[in-house]
Amino acid sequence: MAGKMEPVPGTSDIWLPETSEWVLLENAAREVFARYGYGEVRTPVFERTDLFVRGIGDETEVVQKEMYTFEDRGGRSLTLRPEGTAGVMRAIANQGIAEGDEKRVFYIGPMFRGERPAAGRKRQFHQVGVEAVGRNTPAMDAENIAMLMDYLRVIDVRETRLLLNSRGTAADRVHISESLRDFFGPHQESLCGDCQRRLATNVWRVLDCKNPACGEVVNSAPAIPDLLSPASREFFDDVCRLLTAVDVPFEVAPRLVRGLDYYEHTVFEVTCEGEHLGAQNAVAGGGRYRIALPGSNKPVSGVGFAAGLERLLLARGRCIGAEAAGIGPVDAYVAVLGDTALSAGMALAQQLRGSGWRVVCEVEGRSLKAQMRTANKLNAGVAVIIGEAELAKGTAMCKQMTGDRQDEVAVTDIATWIRRQTQSGD
Ligand code: HAM
Repeated sequence: MAGKMEPVPGTSDIWLPETSEWVLLENAAREVFARYGYGEVRTPVFERTDLFVRGIGDETEVVQKEMYTFEDRGGRSLTLRPEGTAGVMRAIANQGIAEGDEKRVFYIGPMFRGERPAAGRKRQFHQVGVEAVGRNTPAMDAENIAMLMDYLRVIDVRETRLLLNSRGTAADRVHISESLRDFFGPHQESLCGDCQRRLATNVWRVLDCKNPACGEVVNSAPAIPDLLSPASREFFDDVCRLLTAVDVPFEVAPRLVRGLDYYEHTVFEVTCEGEHLGAQNAVAGGGRYRIALPGSNKPVSGVGFAAGLERLLLARGRCIGAEAAGIGPVDAYVAVLGDTALSAGMALAQQLRGSGWRVVCEVEGRSLKAQMRTANKLNAGVAVIIGEAELAKGTAMCKQMTGDRQDEVAVTDIATWIRRQTQSGD
């Protein structure tokens, strides 16, 4: 036998029963987001590299170190999407949105970042995300955050902390950058090489550095909300007030900036403090943004968030199993004895599937013993056995797999017989 070929590091195959857990989280997202007026959008998994460089910011870790970029056969530089916002904004801008209109969308799908793989940190990971364009108000931000917390509650992710901050506007950031440079200047020697460079290029990125030595300096850096203009401070205070009004507890994290450069005003992150996540404990993050798109001089503003499905699964810390999610086990196994019975069995299986039952039919003509072993392995509720004798009478032997009941049933009545077994539970 050939050697095993493992998936590429940082990627995984996902099997039952976990797949059923994924479906559960995805369906809950569809249900909860729809309650807030969001509809699903699907955008390509790769885009022109330019979209991410301009949209996310060329000084970000994601753009500088983590993108999967390649040249296609036509010599175009393309990139596997490292996040969803830039692509969704491109799609919304392309469709056009009339003045005064709004658009609320959500997406579910894989994202790609060349990070060092660890528990909860993958190179292909999956996000559920939302974006809302057209209402640039604190109320929109507060509702967006409330929706995220509602989703986390519905999927039973507990022990969460909602961290909230503001980055102000582009105008605010000019003088805030100056204050930050003034603060970090005297500490330059204590910062990592990257951050020393960032002092000149993008001092905000120092606040986000993962290096512990930089973290110590950052802890005593000025609090961003104290440096905001009065209008931006009012926006932030309104978001805080409205979150309180809708009963969403939060903590102000005055140096939270997030890793993507398109944010302005509100930024937030949800961490999960339970035992299952370890270092990668940010289950979701988002904020208000203003994205520059290539080929357009009109940036698009919106608010949104994304949650990592792998981390949500870890945070839940348990698997509900395939059966609980209604996926996996089959209702009936159709066993056949002989060639003529095989075609009759296949026809019966099709008919039962048409009535909504999950049915597996023997396709090889093995011994009855081997077929029953398979029915057991599949956790089938009932077995329907068709032999030449039953076939001649237009019947089949129907048998409970876990009980004693066994009846010879007319082929036309089998669906009713199966229904009776599942309803009576005998
Ligand atoms: P982000 O914070 O980069 O934001 O990612 C959101 C979430 O995706 C994280 O909180 C984490 O749960 C998950 N995640 C990120 N990287 C990985 C990874 N390598 N492995 C596993 N999970 C990961 C964004 O992507 C923004 N687009 C969110 C947003 C939407 N902001 C506004 N709208």
